[in-house]
Amino acid sequence: MNSLRNVRKRQRRVDAEEDLSFSRSRARSLVLEANGIENPLEKFELDKTIQLDQFEITLDSYKGSQLSLELRQWCFQVVEKHTRQDYESAGLWSAAGKKAELRSDAARYLLVRHYPPMTLVGFVHYRFTIENLENVLYIYELHVVDRYQGLGVGKKVVQILETLGRHTKMRKMMLTVFKRNEDAVRFYKEKLGFSMDASSPQLYGDMECKYEILSKDLMSFPEDCVDKNSVMSKLYRVHEHLN
Ligand SMILES: CC(C)(COP(=O)(O)OP(=O)(O)OC[C@H]1O[C@@H](n2cnc3c(N)ncnc32)[C@H](O)[C@@H]1OP(=O)(O)O)[C@@H](O)C(=O)NCCC(=O)NCCS
Repeated sequence: MNSLRNVRKRQRRVDAEEDLSFSRSRARSLVLEANGIENPLEKFELDKTIQLDQFEITLDSYKGSQLSLELRQWCFQVVEKHTRQDYESAGLWSAAGKKAELRSDAARYLLVRHYPPMTLVGFVHYRFTIENLENVLYIYELHVVDRYQGLGVGKKVVQILETLGRHTKMRKMMLTVFKRNEDAVRFYKEKLGFSMDASSPQLYGDMECKYEILSKDLMSFPEDCVDKNSVMSKLYRVHEHLN
């Protein structure tokens, strides 16, 4: 009897290891696939021009290596203006490090312009990557210039990233936010449905940590679907799980 139980236990362990290794390699191949997409907006036929309440914006997609020096410098200046103090408060500011991050080939951007007259009003730097063994869309930076804040630009950009994340079958969207940036924390948690990620340092008792890690599940049915218990919703979940 005992030996039969041991055989079953061993088999369960082997099955679990195989499942884990399958999901790891699946995560890796989905990230590779997503990173191979030249222009996600075009690939998924998303509108580049979007009407907000008060004005129209256009979106342009770039990889870090495609961004001109001028555009990269603009992004860097916005990051420095908005968040340098946050980074410094955590002893994490490095201009050289930030510049290298911005020009990395793994970096992806959506640049937002007010249309017309094509003034730059914001940008997001995001990546398709593996985080804690999961394939995720990681938001590295999201910035809207001061005079355009509160007009719906940030929310629209995150909604577009969510669509990209779902199309590329990423498991979740993630980001790191400084706790002292309370406005941004509220924006993500209260307006965009993010919550503390299981990997956030607070959950391991590190209450002194200056930042938290937030995430939003992309495997569940999109929130704009009215009836989450409908047959279609359930089929969607099964489909996403199997794929
Ligand atoms: C945080 C930030 C990206 C938000 O973008 P935004 O374009 O100003 O936000 P939106 O106008 O799209 O706001 C969307 C919703 O969030 C709310 N919101 C925006 N900023 C908010 C704030 N500071 N506090 C509370 N709610 C806020 C808006 O009222 C709006 O609510 P509604 O949908 O009910 O109307 C932008 O303010 C910013 O660039 N801040 C400085 C840089 C920064 O902190 N970036 C985040 C670090 S990763």
